[in-house]
Amino acid sequence: MKIKSILTFLLSVFCLSVSAQTVYSARSEADINMKVEELLAKMTLEEKTGQMNQLSFYDGKDVEKQFLQPLRNGAIGSLLNVENVEMLNRLQKIAVEESRLGIPLLFGRDIIHGYRTIFPVPLGQAATFDPALAEAGARAAAVEARSVGIRWTFAPMLDISRDPRWGRIAESFGEDPYLGGTMGAAMVRGFQGYSLTDENSLAACLKHFAGYGAAEGGRDYNSTNIPPALMRNVYLPPFEMALKAGAQTVMTSFNDNDGIPSSANSYLLKDLLRNEWKFDGFVVSDWASMDEMIAHGFAKDGKHVAELSANAGLDMEMVSRTYIRFLPELVREGKVSMETIDNAVRNILRVKLRLGLFENPYAPAQSIAYTDESLKLARRAAVESAVLLKNAGNILPLKEDVKIALIGPMAHAPHDQLGTWSFDGEKEKTVTPLRALQTEYTHVKYVYEAGLAYSRDLNAGNFAKAKAAAADADVAVVVLGEEAILSGEAHSLSSLNPVGRQSELLSAVKSAGKPVIMAVMAGRPLTIERNLHDADAVLYCFHPGTMGGVALFDLIFGKENPSGKLPVTMLREVGQAPMYYNHNNTGRPAPDNPVTLEHIPLEAGQTSLGNTSYYLDSGRDPLFPFGYGLSYSAFEYSDLSLSANSISKTDSLKVSFTLTNTGKIKGVEVAQLYVRDLVGSIARPVRELKGFQRVSLDAGQSKTVEFRIAANDLAFYGSDLKRKTEPGEFTLWVGGNSNATLNANFTVEE
Ligand code: NOJ
Repeated sequence: MKIKSILTFLLSVFCLSVSAQTVYSARSEADINMKVEELLAKMTLEEKTGQMNQLSFYDGKDVEKQFLQPLRNGAIGSLLNVENVEMLNRLQKIAVEESRLGIPLLFGRDIIHGYRTIFPVPLGQAATFDPALAEAGARAAAVEARSVGIRWTFAPMLDISRDPRWGRIAESFGEDPYLGGTMGAAMVRGFQGYSLTDENSLAACLKHFAGYGAAEGGRDYNSTNIPPALMRNVYLPPFEMALKAGAQTVMTSFNDNDGIPSSANSYLLKDLLRNEWKFDGFVVSDWASMDEMIAHGFAKDGKHVAELSANAGLDMEMVSRTYIRFLPELVREGKVSMETIDNAVRNILRVKLRLGLFENPYAPAQSIAYTDESLKLARRAAVESAVLLKNAGNILPLKEDVKIALIGPMAHAPHDQLGTWSFDGEKEKTVTPLRALQTEYTHVKYVYEAGLAYSRDLNAGNFAKAKAAAADADVAVVVLGEEAILSGEAHSLSSLNPVGRQSELLSAVKSAGKPVIMAVMAGRPLTIERNLHDADAVLYCFHPGTMGGVALFDLIFGKENPSGKLPVTMLREVGQAPMYYNHNNTGRPAPDNPVTLEHIPLEAGQTSLGNTSYYLDSGRDPLFPFGYGLSYSAFEYSDLSLSANSISKTDSLKVSFTLTNTGKIKGVEVAQLYVRDLVGSIARPVRELKGFQRVSLDAGQSKTVEFRIAANDLAFYGSDLKRKTEPGEFTLWVGGNSNATLNANFTVEE
């Protein structure tokens, strides 16, 4: 595919010099801008606002009135959710051949973690700590989606998510800005390819700008209250990183931050995005997020909405039609300037031209799906995203000659295993754990007894059968979790225990007296402390996508060695939320083993028991920290050394250490580097991830691992909102999770 792409590229560059007609495909920005100006000069105000209007397509009886006629009038710039290729080409033909200026439509769709071949949900992909794999997965998704005419995906989602009650945590890369930005940038590269005009490229869309993941209490769409420095230091860096990877579009978020809805936030859209970051793609609203400013109490009616958003710098409106209805009038009234409109249209046309839409507007003749390559990648991604949380007595890996009792509502849930946002995934193609035993691990003896029909099922009528199946087998593999619809957009939860009676089912199976392997397929980190007691081993798979079932048995049988690490803190109790590793220390950090409820004497007098910041009932610590994950191997970190004890503000530091696989088999360790700035002009987090590497080691092998951190990587925004590295002392740690202990100090000089 690579060679083919290079050839296409060379060919198109060659064509440029020989064909006058290829002006639209010119990759030179000067040519593109010239073409934009040429078009703009010909456009009426209504045609301009048409480009700023995006609608969601439905194939109902009003198609002529809702879509075809407006298209002829140049009143639609983009459509989302056109599912049928013939229809897509028909709509495009009208835009290209029957509208006055022939400006092609841009077709968008939510290709979040795969088109047909579904990859693990983004939170699972973050657990791989493998940006190259995320990039390859996004590329595979782009190849499939592009083959049915889609040119623009609404991904990646870069919202820092520190509250698992929020269902959209599944779509995120978790709680850490550096990991989130690294994975997000990788996906942008994957979707967009080496060139936007490549026949397999999609435009990426960074969302949701900004702060949406901090929705109060994890309730979706809720307000956020993120102060400016926190916004800069935590919520914005992933966007900046992914923009540097060349993302062409940005989507505003639903939330109001400190009272200002993002779709009318000119600080975000103008000062930051355009002036500071020099973004020259376009900004789209989220679905009706503009219109919703009326409910926010920020706009009085649709006309006011259009005025506020246009003046704030929002280029394209998704579905709520206030631009198309009111912008011409607002311009005539002088409330929105023609320059504002022109700039928005420029941004949109520039992206359309960069994508090569003008010379190549249609879907290709042949669709592509489920190639060997994409299935192989999806399997690898599912393998690498699984996090081994417990492996008592090294029960895993199992020998393939054991008899397995396969139990649990997610053991064969072909739809649900795909996870949220898998519109175009097909459950018939899902390899569930059951199907993996039927088709791939066919020599393994097993009995299947679901126990519960689906995750919320309250009928315990089959528990006895499940227990009997376990008693009759050598080992039980119990696959629990959540249905796809229980996480994702608009699916916030106030309890994170496995839903329904799944925990009881697990206990019933455990009572059969056989070893129990628990696998969890879920969009979010559930509170599974209770379940740990009933399981000898636990593999947390997130929603693993099309190939999740076979990947699970690859791990269970040791064909693969687990290497996933948690991209998010796993809580003991939902009441701990939000809890994340990169918090500030507070004035009263809790010690190890702080006083708990049981220590409180009866009729105790008023006292600041414990005197520190933690919960009396659930303690100080989460169930598992960020970055945690076991392997069938074991890894030891030693000989930490720094190239200097002190660096200047323009220097960098080489950090090296020895990593040894002390286990009996080959394995991959995600080595992590954390830093703390001990004294800052604003209090700094107790640790911040500054680097990670997947290191593969044979049994007994040692390697020297090196990281380089520049003083600039230690910079942050203080209360003056200026980014700088402050001189002083720092501690760094290297290790296999955010509780790493091997450390050294260094200084950044004045
Ligand atoms: C609403 C979601 O918030 C957004 O992420 C998605 O891309 C749009 N709908 C389009 O489906």
